[in-house]
Amino acid sequence: MLYFFIYVVTSFNSSTDGYALLAFKSQITSDPNKILTKNWSQGTSFCNWIGITCGTRHKRVRGLNLANMGIGGTITKEIGGLSFLRSLIISNNNFHGFIPDKMGKLSQLREIEIQNNELNGAIPTSLGFLENLQKLNLSYNKLIGDIPNKIFNLSSLVEISFGDNILSGSLPTDM
Ligand SMILES: *[C@@H]1O[C@H](CO)[C@@H](O)[C@H](O)[C@H]1NC(C)=O
Ligand SMILES: *[C@@H]1O[C@H](CO)[C@@H](O)[C@H](O)[C@H]1NC(C)=O
Ligand SMILES: *[C@@H]1O[C@H](CO)[C@@H](O)[C@H](O)[C@H]1NC(C)=O
Ligand SMILES: *[C@@H]1O[C@H](CO)[C@@H](O)[C@H](O)[C@H]1NC(C)=O
Repeated sequence: MLYFFIYVVTSFNSSTDGYALLAFKSQITSDPNKILTKNWSQGTSFCNWIGITCGTRHKRVRGLNLANMGIGGTITKEIGGLSFLRSLIISNNNFHGFIPDKMGKLSQLREIEIQNNELNGAIPTSLGFLENLQKLNLSYNKLIGDIPNKIFNLSSLVEISFGDNILSGSLPTDM
């Protein structure tokens, strides 16, 4: 009985990550080498999917690394459900559309590398709440508007890159 209960609770949490990943996959509109199309199959545990790293104990997604795969599409807001995510790397692909606001919910994030895509719209203010963020690379996209001031208050930050976008506005004097 207890085992069953634990199993149900655990699989519910894990299926939240599985749900978020399948939602992410559903917004990939171009996958010329059929990498996700073939590999991210529901027949295998998502911890074994290409580009996914899970925590050893809880089997929650810690890392999503899909750099240099030639994939394109938008980033689904469901990514905000990967609540254990530490590292998000989708650089050197063809992602377009907005950076979802919900990314600011991923409070464990240490690293965001989404450079070299076609992302547009503004940098979400919510990224300024990622208090563990160490590395943020948004360069080589089509982002517009200003850099949310709160980002410069993140004391964990070590490396940032915003180059080659269409940003405007001013930098905070107390950065
Ligand atoms: C499942 O998630 C909920 C809320 O996200 C949390 O309170 C609960 O402890 C988690 N259960 C397990 C077994 O990880
Ligand atoms: C998916 O890719 C991983 C890592 O390359 C590999 O270990 C696994 O066997 C692949 N799974 C399928 C179903 O192709
Ligand atoms: C950043 O932190 C300083 C000192 O705590 C505070 O005065 C300032 O209002 C903060 N700026 C933002 C944009 O949160
Ligand atoms: C961010 O990405 C660009 C383009 O790939 C690279 O030139 C730059 O060194 C990166 N910045 C950091 C802080 O890693």
